Amino acid sequence: MGEDITVAKRRAGRSAAEAVEDGTVVGLGTGSTAAHAIRRLGERVDAGLDVEGIPTSFQARELAREATIPLTSLDVATPDVAIDGADQVADGQLIKGGGAAHAREKIVDTAADRLLVVVDPRKEAEVLDEPVPVEVLPSARSPVADAVAGLGGDTDLRAARRKDGPVVTDNGNLVLDCAFGPIENPEGLAGSLASIPGVVAHGLFVDVADEIHAGTADGVEVRSV
Ligand code: A5P
Repeated sequence: MGEDITVAKRRAGRSAAEAVEDGTVVGLGTGSTAAHAIRRLGERVDAGLDVEGIPTSFQARELAREATIPLTSLDVATPDVAIDGADQVADGQLIKGGGAAHAREKIVDTAADRLLVVVDPRKEAEVLDEPVPVEVLPSARSPVADAVAGLGGDTDLRAARRKDGPVVTDNGNLVLDCAFGPIENPEGLAGSLASIPGVVAHGLFVDVADEIHAGTADGVEVRSV
């Protein structure tokens, strides 16, 4: 990853962390850009900010613990705001799940009153066209792949790195990366994917984002959706 992209991610993440208000509950997203937000939030907690975090993954929880952000859960709190990354953004709609965390991310991000999305310039597109990660129950892998093929998608079981076999999510499930080409109707595809038995969650986040914090090497652009 180039130095400019690292700087852009840091600017985006820190920008969103600055928007968090005292006395609130914050959904803590997953990935390298959200990690910058978590670290900045930790600095603000050290300086006296009173917040509680709800992590979206094992990774987010570990980072939040290192940053000494007090944690809570959806059982007892509702996030006022969530900060999360994305793999692609087009017209405010998102593809997420590059880190296989999209099931919990969708639960927390959707529960939040506001979702701030933190991205670098490589994520922005005119039309969503990256593969859509679909988390599936292990026993449903083949029928889900058949159903996705019926929707025009090519599926690829995500392989683990430094482990033989597939990625296993924090929830004990598998991930099918589903390539559809340009997605002209994200809402329609989202509904179709969600209705397949065995699908736990897919990575299309339609009408969930409220604000995009797009970092660049020079600054941050904040846009309402
Ligand atoms: C995690 O499953 C994803 O949804 C991430 O939020 C997404 O992949 C963005 O990650 P980076 O900020 O590392 O690009």
